[in-house]
Amino acid sequence: MRVTVNTIQKFKDNNEKFSVLTAYDYSTAKYIDEAGIDVILIGDSLAMTALGYETTHSIGTAEMTIFTKAVAKGANRAMVVTDMPFMSYHADIASAVRNCGEMIKCGANAVKIEGYSEHILDVVKRLVESGIPVVAHLGFTPQFLNTLGGYKIQGKTKEAAEEILRQAKDLQKAGAFALVLEMVPEESAKYITENLKIPTISCGAGRYCDSQVLVCDDVFGKFDGFKPKFARKYGDMKSFIIDCAKKFDADVKNGTFPSEDEVF
Ligand code: KIV
Repeated sequence: MRVTVNTIQKFKDNNEKFSVLTAYDYSTAKYIDEAGIDVILIGDSLAMTALGYETTHSIGTAEMTIFTKAVAKGANRAMVVTDMPFMSYHADIASAVRNCGEMIKCGANAVKIEGYSEHILDVVKRLVESGIPVVAHLGFTPQFLNTLGGYKIQGKTKEAAEEILRQAKDLQKAGAFALVLEMVPEESAKYITENLKIPTISCGAGRYCDSQVLVCDDVFGKFDGFKPKFARKYGDMKSFIIDCAKKFDADVKNGTFPSEDEVF
């Protein structure tokens, strides 16, 4: 049975942790779905990990629809959430609803949007009214990299944690069903988590959130651009790919590929 907004709320109510992992293509989505991951996020991190851009700013709505279609085809049980790219929900409510609606048409079950403002609250309200579930995202928000002045930990002081909680409560009231907290000290994230009805998803926000999210390329050891402190590497896909490619290269060059069994 598909993980839904109700399943996610039950996880929180029953004090049960759930897992969120990014995926950008069909086969990765299929395998991590089989592995039991509860939510698959088509993160705009793919701009960096899959497309090689320096930040997440360089990806648009049209590209996200392609990745969403591929992931949605691979995921049977997991909830599929598409990260709305930079500037796809800021101009006005109408274009925000249209762009988010595109992702649902492509197979996403929900969207994620970053930040907090009166406009964002209105967007969340209108999306939920339109039948589009929303994951909010506070703390460090990569799409605001330039206004935040770099990759900086957010919510370090009691006052800053209070402010994130205030914003989170507004987003919760507007209808968001979950909240990503990125790069927030775990004591602040704990305080925020304990004071919200909706679940929090930690992205470098410590052990007391209701869920954890990581970027699949970090988990698989595929991306070698940089490794955030909070990312745990469970494999070494980079070495695996290089090793397989080297063996294939050698076999082609020494004439052992293809063999008799591999020809018609
Ligand atoms: O883009 C992304 O992958 C994300 C998460 C890791 C939260 O936003």
